[in-house]
Parts: sequence; structure tokens; C-alpha cells
Amino acid sequence: MNLIITSDNQTLSQKAFQFIKETITRKADAVFGLPTGDTPKKLYQMMIDDHQQQGTSYREARIINLDEYVGLATDHPQRYFHFMRSHLIDHLDIQLPNFHIPRSDCISLHQSCLLYEALLATHPRDIQLLGLGINGHIGFNEPGTPFTARTRVVTLTEDTRRANARFFSSIDEVPKRAITMGIENILEAKKIVIMASGKSKAQAVRNMLEGEITEACPGSALRMHRDLWVIIDTLASQKLSDSTRHQAMVWGVGGDGQ
Ligand code: GLP
Repeated sequence: MNLIITSDNQTLSQKAFQFIKETITRKADAVFGLPTGDTPKKLYQMMIDDHQQQGTSYREARIINLDEYVGLATDHPQRYFHFMRSHLIDHLDIQLPNFHIPRSDCISLHQSCLLYEALLATHPRDIQLLGLGINGHIGFNEPGTPFTARTRVVTLTEDTRRANARFFSSIDEVPKRAITMGIENILEAKKIVIMASGKSKAQAVRNMLEGEITEACPGSALRMHRDLWVIIDTLASQKLSDSTRHQAMVWGVGGDGQ
């Protein structure tokens, strides 16, 4: 595992952007697994700026998103489909058929999960980016999820619904279910980069990095991956032990990135 501690979300996003840029430069048709949420918003803006200013092209790239709510109207702005279009996809030259997100607006959710599995099988991800839930979830794999879980419909915990209520007019509007890639799907990516920013993530970061590898903390499963990069900011690192901090590479907080 590689741990990078940065001063703030801006520096965190710059570090994550380096991974994206390295991947697309090396491989024009790279497959990116991407998350939604507040954490990657700056990173997505950096990708857009870089595309517009430096001409980095995503024409051949494929994007496969982690998850999608179930039960929101097709045109609801909080659907992750719309989030991705407005924060990233519509501002790059990616071809729309190469952007994938679980379909939850169809008759059979089961069929939708099977289709997503087929897609994942034929599109090995070069890099999987992740955010971390305050309860340690990754994608919508909530605490208690077996590490062997694959794409499926899940019930969201109250913690998660409460955390995501800020995007809706009230908690009652937050969907109770979602479709998510499973933990096993996530672990199949060649490289994993997980980002966590802010004080509210400090306990989850500690559980993920220093706790037992246990289903109670889905993020802890990532430690079984051989090419894992954890990028966090100072606030999210607050609860880490000194020995973990000493192993970290430090950017933008008086460190020199050694
Ligand atoms: C959401 C998403 C996750 C995301 C996480 C953290 O519920 N399903 O994919 O990574 O919670 O979100 P944020 O970055 O807004 O804190």
C-alpha cells in the first residue's frame, strides 16, 4: 500500500490527477473506473481544464462508473448519470457510448446487474478511483458486505442516507436502494486510487488503514490489493497513528514528496 498525505483537497486532487494523466498518456483507450461525490469534483475540473488547455484527449477512453441510485426519476439531477455528465463527461471529448453507469431506470434491475458484470468482464479497468464513505463504504458497499460481493442492488444504511441528504431537499428524498459494483469487482482493477478529504472521514480512514481487514469496514478490503494508492488530506489523516504517518509520502504540508 502507498499512502500520500496532502495539505488539502486541492493538492489531493492534483496527486490523483497525476494518476489519470499518466494512465491516459500511456494508453489512449484506457478504462477508468470512476466515483461520484464531493471528493472527486476538483479532480474532474482538473481533467476538464487539462483537456481544454493541453488537448489531452479521451476520445478512445472508456469510463465505467461505480454505482447509481435506484428509484430517482430519470431526469432527477441527483442521479449519478447526470452528476457525471455535468461534472465531467460533457466537457471532455469522450464518446458517449464509452461512458457506462449502472442502469436503474429499466424494468429488470437483476438484468441490469448482469449486463454490468458482462461489461466489467470485457473491460478490465486500468485504474479504479474511489471515494470513502464516512462509515467506510466504497461504492455503495456498506459495512457487512462480503468481500466476494459483485454487482447487485443494495439497501443503503441510514448513515449513508443521512450523509447524502445534503444533495437532496430532505432525507426522505434520498433513495433507499442503489446498484453498485461489488467489492470483488473493485479489487479486480489493475490499480486502485482511493481519496478521502476532511475531518468527517478521519475515523473511516483510520479503520481502513489501521483496523482489521474486516467486512465491518469495506474500505479495509483494499489493503489486499497489490497496487493500492491512498491519497488523503491532513484533516482526514488526523486519527492515524504516528507509525502510519511516518510511512506516508507527504505533499504540500511542508514535506517534499519523498
Ligand atoms: C457516496 C458514493 C460513493 C462516494 C462516497 C463518498 O455515497 N456512493 O461512491 O465515494 O459516498 O462521497 P463524498 O465524496 O461526497 O464524501
